[in-house]
Amino acid sequence: MSALIAKPWLFSQPDQDPRTATGARLRWGVVATGGIAAAVTRDLELLPDAELYAVSSRSQAAADAFAADYGFARAYGDHDGVAGYERLLANDAVDVVYVATPHAHHHEIALAALRAGKHVLCEKALTVNAREAAELVELARDKGLFLMEAMWSRFLPSMQRAFEIAASGEIGEVKWVGADLGFPAPYSPTSRLWAPRDGGGALLDITIYPLLWALGTLGFPQTVSATGWINDDGVDAQNALTLGYHHGAQAQLTSSLLAHGPRAATVAGSQGFLQSLGSVNNPTELVVRVGFEEPRAEQFSVVGRGYSYELREVTRCIQQGLTESPVMPLEDSLNTMRLFDGVRAQLGVSYPNDVR
Ligand SMILES: NC(=O)c1ccc[n+]([C@@H]2O[C@H](COP(=O)([O-])OP(=O)(O)OC[C@H]3O[C@@H](n4cnc5c(N)ncnc54)[C@H](OP(=O)(O)O)[C@@H]3O)[C@@H](O)[C@H]2O)c1
Repeated sequence: MSALIAKPWLFSQPDQDPRTATGARLRWGVVATGGIAAAVTRDLELLPDAELYAVSSRSQAAADAFAADYGFARAYGDHDGVAGYERLLANDAVDVVYVATPHAHHHEIALAALRAGKHVLCEKALTVNAREAAELVELARDKGLFLMEAMWSRFLPSMQRAFEIAASGEIGEVKWVGADLGFPAPYSPTSRLWAPRDGGGALLDITIYPLLWALGTLGFPQTVSATGWINDDGVDAQNALTLGYHHGAQAQLTSSLLAHGPRAATVAGSQGFLQSLGSVNNPTELVVRVGFEEPRAEQFSVVGRGYSYELREVTRCIQQGLTESPVMPLEDSLNTMRLFDGVRAQLGVSYPNDVR
């Protein structure tokens, strides 16, 4: 795994409004019409250099309705044994594809998109396992196409600032990180959050956010110790990870589909600490306290729903001919999937995708 982070990831244009165009217009294709597809499309509408060009769904009616709601020119559903996304990918006018299906379908669709010569923004988790992620990364590199996991929180001004404070030395040397994300997700064997065939469980869906706090302040760990509660379907309803670092630092991360947690992060250093308020994946406030001094607070708001920053980065990178983002590099997605494979081995969680 990569070495400790010596400096924070810095958004390449931290002071720029993501609604400011950075180059020629890109034609976007959106695969799926579910919850996150709609939320991200609403932010995509804010970018003047983004054209909402095509959408696909398993259902033609759903694609048509989504296209009508957001003004997409083309709508593709499954027809005569050809998947809607395959029909979208056959359209040469599409420049970049946003994959917004459940995790277990990312690999198949992103692979097809890269084979069709499209740049790809793929929802998190990038894939179900490291083998699938490595195949995507290899193909993107071979073809010279842009690929990025949609880790939107990395690009938020609040997160960038948190990592900047941690790296600045203001709270001393970072020794301990604690972060949680939890919400009670109603159980249903067919819900993507619970179904093994969709890559269900807390790990792939939400652990990526508490993990981001450890990665942004300490980097990838040298050891990972995992516990969790595995339900009768074999997915982790909740998990707790302890990350260990050679220099003695630790991170404790919890993720739950059962409990509504505070969704907070604490970064503790040798001289003080930093806490996030709001949500752990989209903080509205950062509080810094050095020693016994009065706490200092910084407030944050986002443009749109917060996805506009990652969309600006994807757009800028493609316009500038980059094949990966320096803020969300492919090596970090690979290392994350390797770390998650290791956690699943400890927890005893496996998915149908693992044996394909
Ligand atoms: N960045 C974020 O803040 C965020 C938030 C939530 C979720 N996500 C990620 O986004 C992805 C989707 O989550 P979601 O909450 O949008 O789920 P969702 O509301 O269930 O929507 C997923 C969509 O994918 C399509 N789909 C469902 N099952 C499929 C299958 N078996 N094969 C192919 N397509 C299928 C469906 O669209 P059609 O019916 O149109 O085919 C469905 O509406 C997940 O990877 C999740 O981790 C990210």
